Amino acid sequence: MTKVICEAKVIAQKFLAPDVKLIEVKAPEIASQGQPGQFVNVEVSRQAAPLLRRPLGLAVVNKEAGTCSMIYRIIGEGTHLLADTCVGATLSIIGPLGHGFDLNAKRPLVVGGGLGLAPLLNLVTSLAVPVDILIGGRTKAEVFWTELFREHVRNVYVTTDDGSCGTQGNVNALLPQLLAEGEYDCVYVCGPVPMMKAVAQVVEQAGLPCQVSLEKYMACGLGACLSCTCGGIGKRLKVCTDGPVFWSKEVAEW
Ligand code: FES
Repeated sequence: MTKVICEAKVIAQKFLAPDVKLIEVKAPEIASQGQPGQFVNVEVSRQAAPLLRRPLGLAVVNKEAGTCSMIYRIIGEGTHLLADTCVGATLSIIGPLGHGFDLNAKRPLVVGGGLGLAPLLNLVTSLAVPVDILIGGRTKAEVFWTELFREHVRNVYVTTDDGSCGTQGNVNALLPQLLAEGEYDCVYVCGPVPMMKAVAQVVEQAGLPCQVSLEKYMACGLGACLSCTCGGIGKRLKVCTDGPVFWSKEVAEW
């Protein structure tokens, strides 16, 4: 797989929630190669100096149309600049980057929360078998993702901390029951670190393999700066190049 630096035209930008946007760009060379779990490094604005880039997971890839979509939360200077980028503008994009998901599951359960659901959208549309998803959030407003996933999966299960949608509690309020009844052979998880750690523990105790997609601050995204390392078994792991997807048993220190 060859990583590409391209000038990508912005095709669409839209709000999915008051502070969450989806940006779609024309990038045929990246779309033709991008795998679920991989990410791109996006220049956030032509006006920014020095050049700012943000790593964003591939959320939707349309190989026929040659487009890629990424979903991001508007949270700091870089993402505010990105949110202001107009349709028709071009952005420099490097990708596809990193190591994506293993897609060999026959009975997958996908578990996600927050922006971790963005790469999972690409995953569920790429798995060639029926998929169940468990989505967790603090409130009903945070699980707007259910509508994005519903048409691509068999069952959607939801938990919210306040009980305003689905089962009350975090994802582990439902996970043991789903694992006991669902005959799953692999669990994929992406979301806040405490959620991923807790899910991985339950999945490992159930004797199933678990893939986790880690999110770390990334300065270069290319394996050069060591800003993104975490502890593996007997070695440091670079999230940007060894990951961001790992088998949970590879990760010793999150
Ligand atoms: Fe620089 Fe990973 S972000 S080594």
